[in-house]
Amino acid sequence: MQFARLVVDELRCFQHLDVVLQPGINVFVGDNGAGKTSLLEAAHLLSHGRSFRAGAAEALLRRGSTNWTVHAEIRHATGQVQSLGLTRQADRWQARVDGQSVATLAAMIEHCAVICFEPGSHALIAGPAEERRRFVDWGVFHVEHEFQPLWRRYRRALRQRNALLRSAAVDVDLEPWEQELAQRGEQLDAMRQRYLEALAPLLEALCAVLVPELGTPLLLYRRGWPAGESLAAALQGSRQRDRALAHTRPGPHRADWSLTYAAAPSRALLSRGQAKLSALACLLSQAELHDRRSRDAAVLCMDDLASELDAAHLEAVVDRLQHQAGQVLITGTTIAPVLAGSTTRFHVEHGTVRKL
Ligand SMILES: Nc1ncnc2c1ncn2[C@@H]1O[C@H](COP(=O)(O)OP(=O)(O)O)[C@@H](O)[C@H]1O
Ligand SMILES: [Mg+2]
Repeated sequence: MQFARLVVDELRCFQHLDVVLQPGINVFVGDNGAGKTSLLEAAHLLSHGRSFRAGAAEALLRRGSTNWTVHAEIRHATGQVQSLGLTRQADRWQARVDGQSVATLAAMIEHCAVICFEPGSHALIAGPAEERRRFVDWGVFHVEHEFQPLWRRYRRALRQRNALLRSAAVDVDLEPWEQELAQRGEQLDAMRQRYLEALAPLLEALCAVLVPELGTPLLLYRRGWPAGESLAAALQGSRQRDRALAHTRPGPHRADWSLTYAAAPSRALLSRGQAKLSALACLLSQAELHDRRSRDAAVLCMDDLASELDAAHLEAVVDRLQHQAGQVLITGTTIAPVLAGSTTRFHVEHGTVRKL
């Protein structure tokens, strides 16, 4: 897919922005604080329903405003053109597809695939497990249609079991919810496992380009409960402990994965730069897998790319971006020489965007 047009109202520094984008590489140049990251954030919101920046959702709203909207015209590989919209007012979300309100954010997000590499991306490797679960789940969501309803059922059962754990309920009260958790949880786990298995060879190839000095990468998945045990047995076996903790420990809500290397068997041994490049390898392989499976390339956003990478890595990444099918949005304070070729350029200043 590609963004043909992006319209942003009352988000961050944008009062009203209306920008027509081109296929291939689009470069946005501007000083610090001009609005470059906010522009990518707007694109990311349509694909994830949240920002990639840490902080409260309220921070997205332009100071003094009451609601923000991001709207995009999207062109899919099939030629189909679609209009997607997302509004947030007070604490309510409203998503639209072709002008019609849709009941869930997921019903809009499924049409939009945006993958962002930005200065905070190293958290994918070095940060909390939640980031890594989101990464996998985003990938699974775009290929497995049952994933979202399964998660909803799993979360509901988890809330019920947790409430019962806090209310001195007896085992027989827990059982029906444990049965639901075990069934849905095993299904969710199988989907995640399949996804990471498909990702691994693509990731390995990218690591060989981006961090060759670290040797063979190892992608290790931990499903969230002990190996060799069914989730049903794990839930039953942890009742006493879960009662004491007042929440459910075993299950896919505690899954995690790690990327380590022959020369760095623990992520603590990675430099910040290597963690960043590892995150980039994860994101680029996710994009590649998405493109293969959906036959509709994801949009890649690269925030402040030139300041995140040294010259050699920048050249390798730009070369790759130039040879792939999808649309790319890159930001920077200057145009890196490797990007001087056939790219569409925009100047960003005080929340306005002008094509150069
Ligand atoms: N909620 C908000 N309301 C108004 N301005 C904001 C809000 N959040 C951020 N800003 C401002 O938006 C501007 C653009 O930020 P950003 O997109 O991060 O810039 P860049 O990536 O170009 O350095 C900054 O000047 C920032 O202070
Ligand atoms: Mg920025």
